[in-house]
Amino acid sequence: MTANSMIRLRGVTKSYSRGGETLTVLDRLDLDMDEGGFYALMGPSGSGKTTLLNLIGGLDRCDEGEIGIEGEDIARMDGPELAAWRAEKVGFVFQGFNLIPVLTAQENVELPLLLTNLSRRERREHATLALEMVGLADRRGHRPSQLSGGQEQRVAIARALVSDPHLILADEPTGDLDRKSADDVLGLLQRLNREFKKTILMVTHDHEAAQSARAIVHMEKGGTLGRIEVLAAPTDRGSARSPT
Ligand SMILES: Nc1ncnc2c1ncn2[C@@H]1O[C@H](COP(=O)(O)OP(=O)(O)O)[C@@H](O)[C@H]1O
Ligand SMILES: [Mg+2]
Repeated sequence: MTANSMIRLRGVTKSYSRGGETLTVLDRLDLDMDEGGFYALMGPSGSGKTTLLNLIGGLDRCDEGEIGIEGEDIARMDGPELAAWRAEKVGFVFQGFNLIPVLTAQENVELPLLLTNLSRRERREHATLALEMVGLADRRGHRPSQLSGGQEQRVAIARALVSDPHLILADEPTGDLDRKSADDVLGLLQRLNREFKKTILMVTHDHEAAQSARAIVHMEKGGTLGRIEVLAAPTDRGSARSPT
């Protein structure tokens, strides 16, 4: 593999069985993504984008193939190994935010750190830092219901960042947001990519959102990849922003 390949899939196959029928969602997929990249994954509904993201993040397992992330084949890990790997190496952001309603913003962000051996005080410090990064330190005591959708998603991004993972996976993170909140979230993801060198893979339906990325990976129905559209070279930081 090349030195800077963050994600390297080879022959990844994933099928679901439903009522005696087998649906092959990903069919011997090969894919390489560079460290430090910001990729948008686009494609028709049902083409397997969420399935692919979940496999790369170790939330689900493939039937066949290799899923190399930073040189480790996570497809070969057992359940406990995979859970530990996930807690340390990946941050997830979902369309519906997935915050816990009874917890404050601060407590939601601290949650992934309960799986680490950080002290309570360290957990609090890391969570505060992550909330500062998304510009919501002053809302740390608020519950999700007391926040706007855009703020909720920024709390979810802080939660994804709190363990300082190299890789952020976002599944339609702006799907439930108005344009202004979506642009705030996209700007934040761009900053995480440029300033904090996070590798980001973001599923989106929104062509405007995809322009925030530096490359667009197109998925076709039937579990194959289409073209990869490069919007900006990996070293060409700053030019992927959509013209405003
Ligand atoms: N757990 C599951 N069991 C059965 N079928 C599934 C499951 N998850 C997804 N699918 C099917 O796999 C296909 C791809 O789904 P998905 O990865 O969610 O696509 P996308 O995110 O591109 O819309 C769809 O046809 C969907 O119905
Ligand atoms: Mg999906």
